[in-house]
Amino acid sequence: MLTVEQVAACGVVPVVVLDSEEQAVPTARALLAGGINAMEITFRTSAAKGSIARVAAEVPEMIVGAGTVVNVDQVHDALEAGAKFIVSPGSDAEVIAEAMKLNVPVMPGVVTPSEIMMGLKLGVKVFKFFPAETFGGLKAIKALSGPFPQIRFIPTGGVNQNNAAEYFKNPKIVAVGGSWMVTKDMVAAGDFAGITEKSAAATALFREIRG
Ligand code: 3PG
Repeated sequence: MLTVEQVAACGVVPVVVLDSEEQAVPTARALLAGGINAMEITFRTSAAKGSIARVAAEVPEMIVGAGTVVNVDQVHDALEAGAKFIVSPGSDAEVIAEAMKLNVPVMPGVVTPSEIMMGLKLGVKVFKFFPAETFGGLKAIKALSGPFPQIRFIPTGGVNQNNAAEYFKNPKIVAVGGSWMVTKDMVAAGDFAGITEKSAAATALFREIRG
């Protein structure tokens, strides 16, 4: 089984919203060309399951996961399509427990100590901190790291090329998540060169800081 750290090793987990399955493979290839080898395809559109299946089948170098997973049925749909990890905007005990039971890395969203305590009880060690910038960013992560020194975070929401460096400098950060390198507009316009360019800048920044 992959660990969350292995999934997020390139430092950036793109949050991808696709309106059409046709966009999935070129988007995955554009991210890969920019050094990003894991992507979260969100269950916010009806194209999510089919898109995950296409990437899983056609772009084996890409670790494809499912995002915006809010119930157990979506966990099953995601895994059936070939998802290798599960991301959730919040913490749902059933979603976490099901992913754990099925040996799939799961990144549940948290912003409060109570949510962290619930996740800890279920065995989570790396949490998505969402929406990061709205809920205090690095300052909040530092405060939460006091009582919870054993956990690490993937801050997502409002993170971008301009503020990612501050997160990368903190050892409690495994990686950051975000959509700035693969916005809906870029995908809709077929701007795959732009996706590669922004992905390359993001992964270069991570390597520059983490070595
Ligand atoms: C989201 O839910 O849209 C993601 O967390 C991405 O946030 P961002 O668009 O601010 O990067």
